[in-house]
Amino acid sequence: MPSSEEINGSHITHAGAVAKGDRPRNWVPIKEEPVFSRRKLKIVCAGAGFSGLTLSHKIKLELKLSDVIDLVIYEKNADVGGTWYENRYPGVACDIPAHSYTFLFEPNPEWSQFYAPGSEIEAYIKKTVRKYNLDEPVQFNSKVTEATWDEESGKWKIKVDRSGAVKEDEADIFVNGTGFLNKWKWPKIEGLFDFKGKLVHSANWDDSYDYTGKKVAVIGNGSSGIQCVPAMQPKVEKLVNFVRNPTWISVNICADKALDGRNFSYTEEDKKRFREDPKAHLVLRKELEASLNGFFYGMYRDHPAQLGLTALCKTQMIDRMQASPELADKMIPKWRPGCRRLTPGDGYLEAFREPNTSMCWDAIESITATGIKTANGEEAFDMIVCATGFDASFIPPWKFQGRDGASLDERWKVDPEAFFAVQVDGMPNYFMFNGPNCPISHGSVLTQISWTCDYILKWAKKIATEDIKSVDVKKEAVDDYNTWSQEFLKRTVWADECRSWYKNGKNSGHVTAVYPGSILHFKDCLENMGGEHFDIRYNSKNRFRFLGNGESVWDRHGMGDLAYYMN
Ligand SMILES: Cc1cc2nc3c(=O)[nH]c(=O)nc-3n(C[C@H](O)[C@H](O)[C@H](O)COP(=O)(O)OP(=O)(O)OC[C@H]3O[C@@H](n4cnc5c(N)ncnc54)[C@H](O)[C@@H]3O)c2cc1C
Ligand SMILES: NC(=O)c1ccc[n+]([C@@H]2O[C@H](COP(=O)([O-])OP(=O)(O)OC[C@H]3O[C@@H](n4cnc5c(N)ncnc54)[C@H](OP(=O)(O)O)[C@@H]3O)[C@@H](O)[C@H]2O)c1
Repeated sequence: MPSSEEINGSHITHAGAVAKGDRPRNWVPIKEEPVFSRRKLKIVCAGAGFSGLTLSHKIKLELKLSDVIDLVIYEKNADVGGTWYENRYPGVACDIPAHSYTFLFEPNPEWSQFYAPGSEIEAYIKKTVRKYNLDEPVQFNSKVTEATWDEESGKWKIKVDRSGAVKEDEADIFVNGTGFLNKWKWPKIEGLFDFKGKLVHSANWDDSYDYTGKKVAVIGNGSSGIQCVPAMQPKVEKLVNFVRNPTWISVNICADKALDGRNFSYTEEDKKRFREDPKAHLVLRKELEASLNGFFYGMYRDHPAQLGLTALCKTQMIDRMQASPELADKMIPKWRPGCRRLTPGDGYLEAFREPNTSMCWDAIESITATGIKTANGEEAFDMIVCATGFDASFIPPWKFQGRDGASLDERWKVDPEAFFAVQVDGMPNYFMFNGPNCPISHGSVLTQISWTCDYILKWAKKIATEDIKSVDVKKEAVDDYNTWSQEFLKRTVWADECRSWYKNGKNSGHVTAVYPGSILHFKDCLENMGGEHFDIRYNSKNRFRFLGNGESVWDRHGMGDLAYYMN
């Protein structure tokens, strides 16, 4: 907009025109409120896992924003927990020390073990939710199916499927908390659904099926397969693990803080100490968190920590496979540890020493009504477990239409690109937890979820107090950021040649899942992100309407605390 215009035949600046009593194009009436007065915003979040629940806690308790933010969380499941509600396969556990895998606001002195089983994490989430009523804004059995940006109102129009009935809602801000590993997928194997025995996916376990004494095939040696093989082995008649690529079975994460490098149970005395001495508990948590955050250097090519990690993993694998050196030859990868998500898997290699368990490297040709067929013939099974992973495309699980018809379905089909894992151009007032290239492999995931939450709510505050209609990251900012990211990522093991969901299932090329820097780098960036990277649009034709009636909230027509800044 030019800063001057012709009014009543003479050329005059806008300000000059106002002074004369005219109304130029950017004139707006005075908003009769103090500067930075907040308007109420509605935030809709999809997902009630750690991300959505952290948002609930921040708004309700930590930042006390409930009077200015109306939060609704739609959750497709019948309960909270996300990953830890859904993944119930035998052996499911967290391989991050439990005291580092907690809501930042809810330390838990009661963890039973150094690495906690999945069921205990689920119970911890539920207990925390009950303690703080974090599910107050959650509507269960409610799946977001559609989100469309409406330019006119500056709102997201959202459709939610509630057991077949469609609910319509709208939001000033739409948050995606649906997780980066929530869409499990069947493998593409001929005849998979012809199998007449029990077919399950690790992420969709059927507790009602008793596999005791059965002949079981487990397909895959990702983290899920590595955990369920040793957990199932003692109970089954026969277990064959079908694998097609080598993988590192690593030393434990923060092993130097564990007992002889392995998981161990906390004693009642330990728990009492954590309970009664919060300071000592904090010291332990800080130590673990620092160790976890330092893991970044284990992923930095040729850094002494990376070389040390490789040597340790190799020694441990050779040691555990002494009885079958030919297996060690096949299993130990040429690429560096961490290229695929690192998995410790105590007990996995050991399981193959048992007579009922073997590893099959023959490519699966097809699945028949009774078993699995390879070039070496057909083998009969009662149960097939597909530990075959997730859709890692980051494409949101709803019909999505942003500004000017923008969509992510086609655009992210090959390589998703976002802005610091939290925004993407074309989708105004839309924020993601753990979007493309998020810090999920070298630091505490739950801590960075908390930082992402702060970033989202910082924007919410700006939108609410500066009369902003929409915030959209600029396309060129997304482009520049991703160009830099891919150049930096070449320095990390994630860019090695190995098939991994970190590269959206590809062997090489674009690293799509992991953050290009340390977790502290991520924190610095989120905290200091400049406004120049965003296209900001306002509710009126004058960006400074929010300056209001010339008062600060402290003034109160001259009756407020007019020297509040002096202590
Ligand atoms: C088996 C497994 C083990 C893991 N182990 C570790 C580990 O050891 N350490 C670690 O740091 N991380 C681990 N992770 C990653 C884990 O997902 C994250 O640490 C964390 O739980 C992510 O929380 P979230 O809330 O972002 O997502 P999730 O926990 O995935 O929650 C997403 C929620 O969104 C809901 N949702 C999805 N779509 C919709 C929709 N359309 N509408 C409404 N709701 C929807 C889902 O039902 C779910 O409740 C593991 C993941 C898996 C699958
Ligand atoms: N921390 C934990 O303890 C833990 C536990 C479980 C999961 N997780 C998280 O979840 C992520 C996903 O783990 P995941 O094990 O579920 O999946 P994943 O790492 O993607 O592994 C999938 C496995 O299935 C195999 N596979 C896929 N399609 C196949 C086919 N058609 N035929 C034969 N094999 C096939 C893959 O083989 P190829 O390798 O040959 O492609 C791979 O071994 C992990 O990386 C981690 O982030 C964490």
